[in-house]
Amino acid sequence: MRQELSEDGVVAQLRAAGCVFAEEEATILREAAADDADLNRLVARRVAGEPIEHLVGWVEFAGRRLAVGPGVFVPRRRSELLAAVAVGVAASRQCPVMVEPYCGAAPLAATISTWVPTARVYATDIDDVALRCARRNLGADAGVLRGSGLAGLPAALRGRVDVIAAVPPYVPDAALALLPHEAADHEPRRALLAGADGLDHIRTLIAQAPGWLAAGGVLAIEMNEEQARLVTDPAERCRTAVFARPVTFATDDSRTVVLALTMPG
Ligand SMILES: C[S@@+](CC[C@H](N)C(=O)[O-])C[C@H]1O[C@@H](n2cnc3c(N)ncnc32)[C@H](O)[C@@H]1O
Repeated sequence: MRQELSEDGVVAQLRAAGCVFAEEEATILREAAADDADLNRLVARRVAGEPIEHLVGWVEFAGRRLAVGPGVFVPRRRSELLAAVAVGVAASRQCPVMVEPYCGAAPLAATISTWVPTARVYATDIDDVALRCARRNLGADAGVLRGSGLAGLPAALRGRVDVIAAVPPYVPDAALALLPHEAADHEPRRALLAGADGLDHIRTLIAQAPGWLAAGGVLAIEMNEEQARLVTDPAERCRTAVFARPVTFATDDSRTVVLALTMPG
């Protein structure tokens, strides 16, 4: 009986703090807590707005439990669309080379490793905390490298990459105030913001990728619908002209889009 009351208390605190999935989160926090005092501390931090994934140290992504922690961007469920696109490309090649630049915890490279075991995966980021997390998720066989955009990759990979899949920062600077507090207050700004239209890193990737992709290789990037329209607009077409054709995939609500650009075969 005492246990039930205590459980209700946790749910009530979480619900009062605005947690939509209060019951589910209470169960997760209870499993993560070493004892009652620890549970109280975790609940207090959650009520204060810390992402639950940072508190418990993991996130579910594409059927895998990945390590994540304070200071690292939490992989979003919406990015499973990009993961599926990348798996589709990688699975169609023999021993493919896959790169996740702007990797954070490296959810895309981790998904490729799981579903396409013959793949050689690389992940790059400029943040050392993110890189440590990526190493935990990818293991010793992956190439986890420090560098801006694609610049950290070994030169030997030039012209040999089959798929580049990326969720770079793509929030316009002025939209910071519109982000949920969990993101704005607890994820690094440089993991989120990308200039006036949010396209700073996306444009960099589109410019850098042709130098790394193999014939028929694919660059797949997550962005919002308006950004995909802008990037493929005739006014910007010169940036993507080297690619054979742009294809977009959309989530059910159409707000998140994956733009896939293919090198001529
Ligand atoms: C939106 S997060 C995405 C992380 C991961 N791909 C995911 O989906 O969870 C963007 C990541 O880009 C990294 N980053 C920011 N600027 C960068 C740059 N110039 N070069 C490489 N990585 C960068 C941040 O450290 C952060 O980990």
